[in-house]
Amino acid sequence: MITVAPVHVWLPGCTEPVLAGEFTHDASGPVGRFRYARSYLDAKHPPLAPDLPLRSRPIAITGGKAIFPLFLDAGPDAWGRHLLARRLERDVSEIEALTLCPTDGVGNIALGDLTPERLRVLTSEEFLEILGELEAGGMASTPVEEQVLDATQNGTSLGGTKPKLTLSRDGVQYLAKFPEPADSKWLPHIECAMLKLARACEVDACKQPEVWHLSAGKSALLVPRFDRVTTATGITKIGYVSAHAILRLDLVQQGSDETLHYGTVGYTPSGLRKSYVSFASDMAKWCGGREAHWVQRKELWRRIVFNALIRNIDDHSKNHGLLCDSMADHKWRLSPAFDLVPAAAVAQQPALSMAYRYIPPSRRRGEQGQPRLVARIDTDDLLAAATEHYGYAPAEAEDYLRQTAGVVANGWRKFMLDEGVSAQEAARFEKTFRFAEELAAGQLPLDKPS
Ligand SMILES: Nc1ncnc2c1ncn2[C@@H]1O[C@H](COP(=O)(O)OP(=O)(O)O)[C@@H](O)[C@H]1O
Ligand SMILES: [Mg+2]
Repeated sequence: MITVAPVHVWLPGCTEPVLAGEFTHDASGPVGRFRYARSYLDAKHPPLAPDLPLRSRPIAITGGKAIFPLFLDAGPDAWGRHLLARRLERDVSEIEALTLCPTDGVGNIALGDLTPERLRVLTSEEFLEILGELEAGGMASTPVEEQVLDATQNGTSLGGTKPKLTLSRDGVQYLAKFPEPADSKWLPHIECAMLKLARACEVDACKQPEVWHLSAGKSALLVPRFDRVTTATGITKIGYVSAHAILRLDLVQQGSDETLHYGTVGYTPSGLRKSYVSFASDMAKWCGGREAHWVQRKELWRRIVFNALIRNIDDHSKNHGLLCDSMADHKWRLSPAFDLVPAAAVAQQPALSMAYRYIPPSRRRGEQGQPRLVARIDTDDLLAAATEHYGYAPAEAEDYLRQTAGVVANGWRKFMLDEGVSAQEAARFEKTFRFAEELAAGQLPLDKPS
């Protein structure tokens, strides 16, 4: 099947999208081709991304789903696809989902025709009014009412992603995240506390998160969208690309033999591909210069440390990304950190989702020259990685780690209680923060990296 879809982009400062070009997807290849529109080229608008340079010939993509990963980022996640499939009462292919989903995907790109229904963003007042009617026994009969019902009462989201909705309040767009029935009702409070704690640790996390109290003890996390800017004439959108897209992880299949191999020697090529180490180096061509790139690498290491300290082990490649500072100058930087959730049950040897240290074969003489990846949380490895991959001097890394452990150890409970978490619920996280407390108390050796 061949799908042809217009590709729209919100250019910097513009509240209306322009046509950037056309994407043709041939599912039989599969092969995808993007061609910039003549009008876009003539207007000398900037390229959509470093890997989509301006030219009049089509740019082809093969492998994986044969859809540019930047476009995939604009589409719905598992939750959004599930809603779409249910509405259409059939399976929905990736390319279809991209052209039919609401245009509230992350970033500044939208594929397909821009209908009023796709462009619509509920206000928080409309949301509360509909929620009130539904709770008073009303039936959801319009798509908007169904949207509210899905976000607040439906627990069948696939793929573990949370029900969420973009809402506007006083002209500002927010991401509202709702806990699923299986989640603790305190999840929004805890996530809100962690975003604030991260900022106290010099991590550029989402600003001004808040717990939004709904009826009947329900609440949601409300965070201003970092990829939307309110101007006098409306909302403009900012480009976003996930680490998943940058690393082309749509091409990587994780087979069981890979897992086995990783377990035995601590290394697989795909493990390296989907690592913080690869993300740190692959973002070079997005950052607009060497100096800016090193600033971003250092920020990335602080995020690794923060995730390690709060035991956020869901730090996968779709929970990191870059935000565009300047399309014309090819300048992107890490987006504010999001989805920071501490694990309440602590594994014996907790590991991050992506390896943060790579030890090449030549460095490990006497051990058959095997390369090694480190994802397991370990003080020495965190410090060694800081100097090997993320641009830190040893003393600077050690100072940051010790100080940050102190901020996390002394602050986690207070930050949770300040968001209204009950003392009993906070106590469930005591084990989670023991590592930070021991580190802050100097009980763990902080060896100098060799
Ligand atoms: N403040 C924000 N502004 C804009 N987009 C965001 C924001 N926070 C998260 N996102 C985007 O929404 C997606 C889902 O958010 P996330 O917090 O990861 O939810 P989930 O718990 O469902 O994974 C993220 O992958 C990211 O692309
Ligand atoms: Mg997430």
